[in-house]
Parts: sequence; structure tokens; C-alpha cells
Amino acid sequence: MNAQPLTVVAYRRELHEPAYLRFIAKVLGAGECEHRRRVIASMHERMPGRERFPLRHVILDGDRVAGSLGYMPADFWIEGKRVAVRFTHDLLVDPDYRGQGLAKLVVDNARAQGDFFPGGMWMTDPCYKIHLACGFADAAPLTTYTLALDVAPFVAQKNLPPGKRLVARIGLAATRIRSLGRAHRTLARAGGAVGSIEGFDPAHDAAWARLGASYGITLARDAAYLNWRYARHPNLSYRLAVASKNGDVTGFIVWRPSAVGEKRAVVTDFLVAKGDVATLEWLLSHVIVQASATACRSLSVLTTQAWATRVVRSLGFYPRAARNTWVVAGWEGRIPEAWLTDHEPWHVVLGDSDGDIWSHAD
Ligand SMILES: CC(C)(COP(=O)(O)OP(=O)(O)OC[C@H]1O[C@@H](n2cnc3c(N)ncnc32)[C@H](O)[C@@H]1OP(=O)(O)O)[C@@H](O)C(=O)NCCC(=O)NCCS
Repeated sequence: MNAQPLTVVAYRRELHEPAYLRFIAKVLGAGECEHRRRVIASMHERMPGRERFPLRHVILDGDRVAGSLGYMPADFWIEGKRVAVRFTHDLLVDPDYRGQGLAKLVVDNARAQGDFFPGGMWMTDPCYKIHLACGFADAAPLTTYTLALDVAPFVAQKNLPPGKRLVARIGLAATRIRSLGRAHRTLARAGGAVGSIEGFDPAHDAAWARLGASYGITLARDAAYLNWRYARHPNLSYRLAVASKNGDVTGFIVWRPSAVGEKRAVVTDFLVAKGDVATLEWLLSHVIVQASATACRSLSVLTTQAWATRVVRSLGFYPRAARNTWVVAGWEGRIPEAWLTDHEPWHVVLGDSDGDIWSHAD
């Protein structure tokens, strides 16, 4: 290692990519590096907001990358105004350099940029603690809700004592039958109001903006973002569906079956007007029916909205005991402090932040 001080540098793809990919291959292995290389290329070449430099900081030791932190630019609707934000993601330090404060150095550097950083629901515990140590505020934890689709293996993985295992199997099997029956009946009543799509149509952007602005604060979605993020993800096949009433789109949902090493399907995004119970029921019913036809053991969804939680619970989803973390920086002057602990203004989903962008199916 170099005796020179390590420097935090704004990542320039044309200068730093070879050293950065050597770092990723060393720390995460060649296979993982290849999956990441494709996602990172999609960020530099197609991601909306990619002009908001830099998309990453790297810590350099001579010409070697010793650590890195990425940023995803996005826009939020905050009380009807479109505001630029960034998500920190992908904090990684070479094992040769761990325990020397490099992670803190690069997260401190991010915090000092002064942007609004709302995210972090996919952070590992060390990453979460490092963000807090660097001055990110701890927002109220988020809850994921899960529906067991293939009950026997779902319960087996829980390591319950035999008596409890039997009770859980009987209870969850009954819930699954009720849930699927209800989903089929809901879709029959909806009468073709929900349909699968291959990609998002820019003609619906104004509708997504209107629905997004019905929340105090949420990610701004449009076709450019949703197609980059989901329809054209380099490693995963997301399934997309849109709901309509009287010829107007009233919501969409994005989900995917299990990725490698997982048994669960996830709803990564959905958007309906705040309080539109009927559309959310249609969209979730569509996903429950489709996911039930796959080999997925369970289906998970995250919501911060109390009314949406009631819909999710009524369809047989149970809250997960472990909570997702959530950290926010640069909020001062942008949102009221009370919003750090109050879920009500927020519409947050599993795909926010870097969501499951790094997952892959092969
Ligand atoms: C997590 C990681 C980035 C930490 O990097 P690092 O440079 O060793 O961290 P630092 O030396 O800056 O340590 C910062 C603080 O985090 C703590 N910390 C670091 N790694 C930790 C770990 N694995 N478990 C618990 N605490 C940890 C340190 O003790 C230190 O706290 P202190 O100042 O109170 O002593 C690094 O271990 C890593 O790359 N891990 C694998 C990837 C990962 O989990 N990234 C997060 C993805 S969201």
C-alpha cells in the first residue's frame, strides 16, 4: 500500500473504469463484476439524470481503487414540486483497506455535498451505522409485507419448533387459499381494467405526475425512468402492469419473480392516487395471480401508507418482523423535521434508492 494519503475523487468513467472494475472483480468476484458492469454501463449510458456529475466517488491509492460510493440521481415530488435528489448506494471498501476509516471518509464526503439524500432501505447494518455516524438522520423504519405462496418450504425455512410449524402451515395455507380466491374475484370484478405491458408509454407521464403529486413526498416516475429502471434492466425481467378506468390510467405495478439465491418475488414499484383502494387491489390481485403461477415461495411488498397497508393485509400479506432501515440527509429546508418520523406524507416502495438494481437472475 502507498504511504501517500488516500484521496476521494469524483469518478470519471473514461479515466477510472479499468481500475474500478479491477476493484469490483477482486472484492466481489468475476461473475458478480460482470453483472455489475452491465448495470453501471446502463447508469452511465441510459439513466435519466446521468448528467448530474458525479455518479460515484472513488478512493484512490495511486492508480488503485480502495473504496467507492455510488449515487443515483432522481427527482422527488415534494408537495407538488419536482425536486432533484440523490440516493447513496453501493458502499464498498477493499478488504485490504478495511477498518481504516475509508467508508466514513467517502460517506462524509457525500454528506458534505449538501444534496437531499433520502434512501437506504437496502443497506447492510454496517452501512446503515456508517451513514448515521456521518450525520445522516435515522428516519422511521420501513416494513415489508409478505404473502406465502408455497407454504411448506416457506414455513420450513423459518426454523420454528415443530408445534408452531404445524400451526403456521395450517394458518398460512388457509391465508393463501383465501388470498388467491379473493384476487381472482377482484380481477373478475375489475373486468379487464388491469393489463400487462412491455414498457411504459410517455403518453402516460402526465397521469403518473398527477398521481405522484397526491403524496406529500415520493419519487417522480415517468416512462424514461421506469423503462430504464425496469423494462430495460440489463440482468432482470420485471413484469409490468397498468390499471385504467374509463380510458384513463389510474396506476401501475412492477414486480419480478425470484432472482438468483432468492425464493421470493418482489413488488419493486407501484403508483396509484393516495387512497385509491380499488386500483391498488386490482394491481396487487393481478400480481398475486401471476406470481402464484411461478415457483416463487413468497411475494413481498413495501408500503409506508396506512390505507395501502390495510389493502395489503386484507390480501393476506403479513408484516415482516425485521424492519428495513431508512436514512435521510440534507433534509433541512426541504422537508419538515416531523416527516423523518411520520410515514403519512411518504409513498416509499422497495425499488426506491438502489432497490434491487444489483440483483440478477443468472
Ligand atoms: C461496510 C464497509 C464499507 C466498511 O468499510 P471500512 O472502510 O472498513 O469502514 P470504516 O473503517 O470507515 O468504519 C466505519 C465504522 O463502521 C464500523 N464497521 C465497519 N465495518 C463493520 C462491520 N462489518 N460490522 C460492524 N461495524 C463495522 C467501524 O467499526 C467504524 O465504526 P467506529 O468508527 O465506531 O469504529 C466494508 O466492510 C465493506 O465494503 N463491506 C462489504 C460491502 C458492504 O456491506 N457494503 C454496504 C452495502 S450497502
